[in-house]
Amino acid sequence: MNIRVFENELQASQATALLLAAQILDKPASVLGLATGSTPLKTYQELIRLSGNGILDWSQVTTFNLDEYLGLAGDHEQSYRHFMMKNLFGKVNMRPEAINVPDGIAADPAVECMEFERRIRQAGGVDLQLLGIGRNGHIGFNEPDTKFTTLTQVVDLTEDTIDANARFFADAADVPRQAISMGIGTIMRAKKIVLLAMGADKARAVRSMVCNPVDPACPASVLQLHGNVTILLDRPAATALSHCPEVTL
Ligand code: F6R
Repeated sequence: MNIRVFENELQASQATALLLAAQILDKPASVLGLATGSTPLKTYQELIRLSGNGILDWSQVTTFNLDEYLGLAGDHEQSYRHFMMKNLFGKVNMRPEAINVPDGIAADPAVECMEFERRIRQAGGVDLQLLGIGRNGHIGFNEPDTKFTTLTQVVDLTEDTIDANARFFADAADVPRQAISMGIGTIMRAKKIVLLAMGADKARAVRSMVCNPVDPACPASVLQLHGNVTILLDRPAATALSHCPEVTL
């Protein structure tokens, strides 16, 4: 694992944007796997800036998002499709038909999961997958003790994740309890993985991901088995790594 620590959130986010930008410059028809949540927001702002300057062209890019809440339509304010339109896709020259986010209101969610996998395969697989990490070590919505072989599937969210998501909903009862998520197997097939983690509340999960043995109790630890992973951290997220023999910072 390639671990990079930056002074602050802005630097870590800009560095992450540079890795994504380099991918698109290197291969204009890249297939990108993307994440939502607060972590990638500044990265997306930087990508929008580079696109506005004419440096980045998204016209041949295809994207697959990690996940979507089950039960929320794509135009729901809290849906992940809406998040992506607002924070990235609506501000760069993406082709609408090249945007893939699981459909949270599909008539048959199991069929939607298989169809999502089929579309990833048909696109030639994900070239670069961007990830955040949950406080409990989840990636996508693959919660602790998930199997490492899973493909896109319907998942039950843990109370910790529901609690972390509650800040975006007016009423706690409205927070979705299930999602469609790429599986660990799907994520591990990406050719490159870039994980961004920021803030002290991620420090424990970051330590488990990189310093402890691979263990489904920390789903992100599976990334130790991937051959091309870059982890970008701000200082607070890296604080628990100082006594970790596996890591030379
Ligand atoms: C988002 C996703 C999640 C988040 C994680 C961190 O698409 O799959 O795994 O990356 O929950 O969320 P934030 O960035 O809000 O701390």
